[in-house]
Amino acid sequence: MNVSKRVLSRIANNAWWSHVEMGPPDAILGVTEAFKADSNPKKINLGVGAYRDDQGKPFVLPSVKEAERQVMAANLDKEYAGIVGLPEFTKLSAELALGQNSEVIKNKRIFTTQSISGTGALRIGSEFLAKYSKTKVIYQPTPTWGNHVPVFKFAGVDVKQYRYYDKSTCGFDEAGALEDIRKIPEGSIILLHACAHNPTGVDPSREQWKKISDVVKARNLFVFFDMAYQGFASGDVDNDAFAVRYFLEQGHNIVLAQSFAKNMGLYGERVGAFSVVCKDTDEAARVASQVKILIRPLYSNPPVHGARIASRILSDPALNKQWLGDVKLMADRIITMRTQLKDLLAKEGSTRNWEHITNQIGMFCFTGINPQQVEKLIKEHSVYLTKDGRISVAGISSNNVAYLAHALHQVTK
Ligand code: LMR
Repeated sequence: MNVSKRVLSRIANNAWWSHVEMGPPDAILGVTEAFKADSNPKKINLGVGAYRDDQGKPFVLPSVKEAERQVMAANLDKEYAGIVGLPEFTKLSAELALGQNSEVIKNKRIFTTQSISGTGALRIGSEFLAKYSKTKVIYQPTPTWGNHVPVFKFAGVDVKQYRYYDKSTCGFDEAGALEDIRKIPEGSIILLHACAHNPTGVDPSREQWKKISDVVKARNLFVFFDMAYQGFASGDVDNDAFAVRYFLEQGHNIVLAQSFAKNMGLYGERVGAFSVVCKDTDEAARVASQVKILIRPLYSNPPVHGARIASRILSDPALNKQWLGDVKLMADRIITMRTQLKDLLAKEGSTRNWEHITNQIGMFCFTGINPQQVEKLIKEHSVYLTKDGRISVAGISSNNVAYLAHALHQVTK
């Protein structure tokens, strides 16, 4: 059959999409689908990075509940937001990231738009870079969050790597990272995780950040910061913003993706922000006008409810204080689970070095187990995690930590 006949017969059968092949499940969200289909009552989902309380239940932050109550009581209308979202929200987001006394904010040389959470912020950023960056190549750490690669590729930005994680120490590969960054062609874009690196849970120290900043400056690289976990690394939002603020002090004009999914638990509300730090107010205005032109045909304008909640939390002193306590509570519970898991592995009789469980920070632990061991954990113990051996520590609770330690020991002994 020639091509046109084949096309005609397909149309006649109403088989418009017979050429579409089955795609693989998402590397992270697909884990949840597999978990849901498992009937083992002991099953544990350590795949997606979503905080759970110590009962293993999704957690609505008390500060978020109160802010939402206030939003509802205000009886606001449901009119469209502007293309770049709620002005109060974008101003407060920038302040949260850069700090109240930021020179960049004072001199009005930042443009911030609301985004569909962190992924949406990355996507707006990648579209902007694909259109306006002189080089359309971004260097990402190895490994990086699985979605970083397609977000940039789909927008037309080529993705390359630099070394980041040292398998032998389960820590930061300082020498490898600096050596690779030194070789990145001038003018390229570099992606940096601001804090609580996903998937490794390994962050550079302050001294190491300073070295990275120096090399990035020497190579004249453009920095794309992804800050999806502000507050989750140390339990303190200012501490966690160190890298972003330091780079700005050093004169880097960065772009920044922010997410409020994790630190406010607003996962399904899709609240985020994308900022461009510019040379001056005039440049910021021109950038703003072009970002609007990119967003309008993508989704027109963002949803308002979650951004109203976040705005309340960030603007009301009492709510803000309560929220900072909520963030600390989540971060601390995760730290407690790390210690318990490590101790219980020792109790199981594991002789493997598990120090990295407590050395790593943020929501994830990069366990260092291999794909066969991951497979066994899933198949034989109904413990679900991503293939790279990452576990979301937020999915561990007092009820399942012993079972997890046992299972982990069984597959690694
Ligand atoms: C994760 O890495 O698990 C989270 O960032 C959720 C997601 O969208 O992948």
